[in-house]
Amino acid sequence: MIRANENYNKLKASYLFADIAKKVEQVQLENPEKQIIKLGIGDVTKALAPAIIKGFHDGVDEMADDATFRGYGPSPGYEFLRRKIAENDFQKRGADIKADEIFVSDGAKCDAGNFQELFATDIKIAIPDPVYPVYLDTNVMAGRTGEFENGRYKGIVYMDCLKENSFLPELPDEDVDLIYLCFPNNPTGSTATKEELKKWVDYAKENKALILFDAAYESFIRDETLPRTIYEIEGAKEVAVEFRSFSKTAGFTGTRCGFIVVPKECMIFNSKNEKISLHSMWDRRHSTKFNGVSYPVQKAAEAVYSQEGQAQIKAQIDYYLNNADIIRKSIKSLGFDYVGGEHSPYIWIDGKTRDSWEFFDLLLNKASVVCTPGAGFGMCGKPYIRISAFNSLENVTMAMERIKDALRGDQA
Ligand code: MLT
Repeated sequence: MIRANENYNKLKASYLFADIAKKVEQVQLENPEKQIIKLGIGDVTKALAPAIIKGFHDGVDEMADDATFRGYGPSPGYEFLRRKIAENDFQKRGADIKADEIFVSDGAKCDAGNFQELFATDIKIAIPDPVYPVYLDTNVMAGRTGEFENGRYKGIVYMDCLKENSFLPELPDEDVDLIYLCFPNNPTGSTATKEELKKWVDYAKENKALILFDAAYESFIRDETLPRTIYEIEGAKEVAVEFRSFSKTAGFTGTRCGFIVVPKECMIFNSKNEKISLHSMWDRRHSTKFNGVSYPVQKAAEAVYSQEGQAQIKAQIDYYLNNADIIRKSIKSLGFDYVGGEHSPYIWIDGKTRDSWEFFDLLLNKASVVCTPGAGFGMCGKPYIRISAFNSLENVTMAMERIKDALRGDQA
């Protein structure tokens, strides 16, 4: 008899953003005249930059000629792209990451979801709350948690990120083996200094733990003193893996390309306490289950690192950061507390006494604006909503006007 993985029963019925999409679709169906503005899921709206499109076209043209056509590519990605990534994203920042420590993939969501396969099922995991739901859900699927009770999964060490600790996770009181960190943070937009990250690297070294560091939003950092990669911290190569994405950096949400850095020094342990190379394990997994990102997409990603590419993507991120600034000012003028939006496309808004789903419904029904309810990111997110800056300036401006109108006379 074919039997189901019953860990799936522990999950909520649907994935957060699928849930939201269904709700929005229903409202649109019932009110076809409404022009709904989507500031929910962090999905870019600006077209791929011209230099990137040229790289894409070049790749497609090569595929159209027998002489330059490519079949299966190397599963960790083409050398031309991995070298550019290593030089530009890491070596230029003083981080000694080499091309062969980079594995190109179809995005950080898949990498963050798949990487947990390499670990034993009985490890102790520390996860910030609130956080991007993929980290937790994929560990639930793998059977690393108990049941969901009173808003939390048993067996997980939750690290509360609250106003009181500036939305920064604190070192756990008990020993943990795997730690998820995300900076600039999704959903709060908080950032971590080098000192802050060093604390985690030291902890991981002392406890033979591993950090999974999600840096998908690093390109939004505008303060040069803030680290853009965990490998700016001494010793991080021994204890940290980093997820990166071209989605928010260069508009690849629909094009799909990201990468994961697994340094060769990074070791995990077997039941006999012997060291195992994480790099070899991931290489084995990746080459067995993944056949590489398409050649034109890797050419497009390579073009991100050209001089024009760099200038063009910076202009796009500045555009979204300007939207974030407009959102922050509007929210402030309405008397709400918020964080984020400075080195991040997300603004995390304290709804005062409102429950986040109630706030979500209010904005959707009264302002025709979609946000993301904070509860979807964890129990600590219950009083919050997240507004994303990914949309056109016109739509963001209009959305803020509509929110102001909807909230006038509807103060909680
Ligand atoms: C988000 O809105 O949190 C992200 O865009 C979702 C994702 O990257 O999968």
